[in-house]
Amino acid sequence: MRFTRLVNASVLAVVAVASLSTVAASAHDARPPKPQEQTLRALAARHGLYFGTAVDPAAYGDASDPAYKRTVDTQFSTVTAENAMKWESLEPTRGTYNWGPADALVDAAVRNRQLVRGHVLAWHSQLPAWVTAGIQDGSIDGPKLRALLKQHITAVVTHFKGRIWQWDVVNEAVSDPWETPSAIHLGGNAGSFKQQFADLLGPDYLAEAFRTARAADPKALLFYNDYNIEAFGDGGPGDKTQFVYDMVKRLRADGVPIDGVGSQGHLATQYGNYDVFQVADAMQRFTDLGLAVALTEVDARSLLKNADDPALAANSADVNARDQAAAYNYHVLLQACLLNRHCLSFTVWGFTDKYSWIPTWFKNPPEGAGCLWDAAYNPKKSLRTVQGDLAAAGAPLVQPRIPQVPRQLPRR
Ligand code: XIL
Repeated sequence: MRFTRLVNASVLAVVAVASLSTVAASAHDARPPKPQEQTLRALAARHGLYFGTAVDPAAYGDASDPAYKRTVDTQFSTVTAENAMKWESLEPTRGTYNWGPADALVDAAVRNRQLVRGHVLAWHSQLPAWVTAGIQDGSIDGPKLRALLKQHITAVVTHFKGRIWQWDVVNEAVSDPWETPSAIHLGGNAGSFKQQFADLLGPDYLAEAFRTARAADPKALLFYNDYNIEAFGDGGPGDKTQFVYDMVKRLRADGVPIDGVGSQGHLATQYGNYDVFQVADAMQRFTDLGLAVALTEVDARSLLKNADDPALAANSADVNARDQAAAYNYHVLLQACLLNRHCLSFTVWGFTDKYSWIPTWFKNPPEGAGCLWDAAYNPKKSLRTVQGDLAAAGAPLVQPRIPQVPRQLPRR
C-alpha cells in the first residue's frame, strides 16, 4: 500500500516534470519550420508573391532524375515553359499545331496549384523554320508576316484561354546599345534578322499583338518582356530601359491592353551590378504608369575557368567568390520586387545548374553556375539568400501584392 502510494507519488512527480519539459519542448516545437526548410512558394506567399521557374519537359519527365520533378512540384507557385510554348515548338509544320508538351505542362501546373506564365507570342527568335526561311527568301513579306503573327497569337491564346496568368505577348523587340545604330530602336543590329523582322512588321505591331491577345483572352495579364531593363541608365538614346519605358507609356496612353512589363533578369557576376534601389526605382516608374511588373527569367551566371568548371577543375576561391556575387544579384532583384506591391512574380530561368541554358548559350568564354541549386541539387548561397530575403521581409515596407486588373479593349 504504502509502497504503491510512494510509487504513485514518484510517478506523478515524474509526470509533472515530464509535462513541464513537454511544455517547454512544445514551445520550441510550435515555432514554424526554419525558413530554409520551407518551400520558396510558401515563403513568397507571405507577401502574396508568386515564385516561379522555367520548366524543361524532358527533365520533368525523366524518371531517372526524380529530384527535378519533385522540386518543380513543391518549391514553385508559378511555372513557365522554357521552350514548349514558343512558335517553333507549337507549329513546326505550317498549319499543324503540336500542343502536347505545352498542354502537359499546364495540366501539371493545375495539379500542383501553380499559375502559368505563357512564353512567348511575338518574338524574332525560335520561329518555325518555315517562317524564318520565308522571311529570308522574301516569300513572306510585311503584310503576310503581320497576318501570320496575328493568326498565331489568336490560335495560341485561344487554345490556352483561361489557363494562363501572364502572357509574354512581345519579347525582346528592341535593340541593345552595343548594336548599330547605337541609339535604341525597334529591332536589332543593322542587317540582322531581328531588324528585318521588326521592319517587316512595322512600328504598330506591338499594339496589334496586345489587342489580338486581349481579344482572345479577356483575363490573362499581357506583358512586354525584355532583358537589360532592370534599371535606368542616363536617360539618353542608348538607355534601353528609357526606350522601353517611353514605348509602354505610349501604348498605355493609346489605350492598348498592356498590363505589365517583365524584366528577364539574366545577370552576370563579371559586370558591375545595380543596387536594390536602382532596380526598385525602375520598377516604381513602370508601376506608376499603371502597369504590373515581374521578374521573369532570373539567373546570375559567372565566367568559368573552363567548360567543366565548377563541377571538376574549379579553384574553391573562384567558386566562393562567384557564389557570393551571384547571391547578391538574386538579392538585388528579389528585394526590389518585394518593395513594390505591383511586382507580382519572381521566376528563375531553371533552378539547377544541371539543366541551365547558360553553359549551352554562353560558351566562349564559358559561363555557368547561375542557378539556385548546383548540378547535384545542393543548395547554393543564392538559394539561402533568396530564402532569407523572403523570410525576413514584412510590414511596413514590404506589403502584400496588389492584383493587377487586366485592361480591356475599348468598347465599340
Ligand atoms: C532560352 C532557352 O532557355 C534555351 O533552352 C533555348 O535554347 C534558347 O532560349 N530570353 C528568353 C528565353 O526570352 O526564351 C530564352 O530561353 C532565354 C533568353
